[in-house]
Amino acid sequence: MDPCTERNAFCINEIRLEYKSHYSVLLDELVEAVRPLKEVDSPIFLDLTFGGGGHTFELAKRFPKAKVLSVDQDPEAFQNGQKRIQNEGMSERIDLRRGNFSEVINLHELEENSLDGIIADLGVSSHHFDSPERGFSFRFEGPLDMRMDPENIEVSAEDVLNDFSAEDIEEILRDYAQERFAKRIAENIVEFRKKERLENTKQLENIVFHCYPKKLRFGKTHPATRTFQALRIYVNRELDVIAEVIPQLIKYLKPGGSMGIISFHSLEDRIVKVEFRKMAKELGLADLVTKKPILPSESEINENSRSRSAKLRVLRKKS
Ligand SMILES: C[S@@+](CC[C@H](N)C(=O)[O-])C[C@H]1O[C@@H](n2cnc3c(N)ncnc32)[C@H](O)[C@@H]1O
Repeated sequence: MDPCTERNAFCINEIRLEYKSHYSVLLDELVEAVRPLKEVDSPIFLDLTFGGGGHTFELAKRFPKAKVLSVDQDPEAFQNGQKRIQNEGMSERIDLRRGNFSEVINLHELEENSLDGIIADLGVSSHHFDSPERGFSFRFEGPLDMRMDPENIEVSAEDVLNDFSAEDIEEILRDYAQERFAKRIAENIVEFRKKERLENTKQLENIVFHCYPKKLRFGKTHPATRTFQALRIYVNRELDVIAEVIPQLIKYLKPGGSMGIISFHSLEDRIVKVEFRKMAKELGLADLVTKKPILPSESEINENSRSRSAKLRVLRKKS
């Protein structure tokens, strides 16, 4: 079969899988994880990753006198969020600011010991994957952008692919996605750009697809998945900001307040696990509520295939 036809067949399956993904992952589990131990009249929660607002709105619904402070660095998430907050008459209770969550202390002028709970649902949203013009998905043709915040992040995926050395690209693919064909993919990218600039998602998908041995091209995971993941993590400094923000935020929780974080791949989860352990075991500031992460139920995975790799870890600040 012609590889393009084969690839398209794969993509159609992917689209079907993704159709149902407008969905907040581990919604009940995350919101309940930050329920205050004793009833609080007007709790204050912080959501580091507003996205479509699913978790933020659920906090506001379940705790009718709560105030929810929220953040998102993505301009579309922010604009849609502002509209939704207004349309649902929640402006008094939900305060959404735009920016990177590594700046959240300033963005919301947080006070120490003031928050009842902090939540995060890391990574990109299904909206990102479903917007061809953002370049996050190889399912559609689009520019190789991948910046969650195009105004403030300077280097796009296209810059990395056209300006970085083969060694640097290989390192990104290895470090951020453990891509086993990283060297071959990096070399083929450099070969391609000798002829023309690498500027769209389908060109990259095609290069990666042909770097995989024929017998591995049609497995459960599309060959380009890891390459796209690695570039996105690098461009948005996704792992660095998680490691920075967790230790900073603990002092803004009230004693007894909780922090719940959902991650989507092993590198992210490892950082959350290590930082939570540090807070609990080395610094003695908190207790681990989840020794092992909470995973989505089978029915959630059936309803929303994207939830299959989600892991929720919860920490509680000592009283
Ligand atoms: C998985 S989505 C969140 C979905 C949301 N919980 C819901 O229920 O609709 C992650 C969101 O976090 C945002 N985000 C990721 N990293 C961020 C960061 N470092 N600072 C601010 N926002 C970030 C993304 O733009 C995206 O909209």
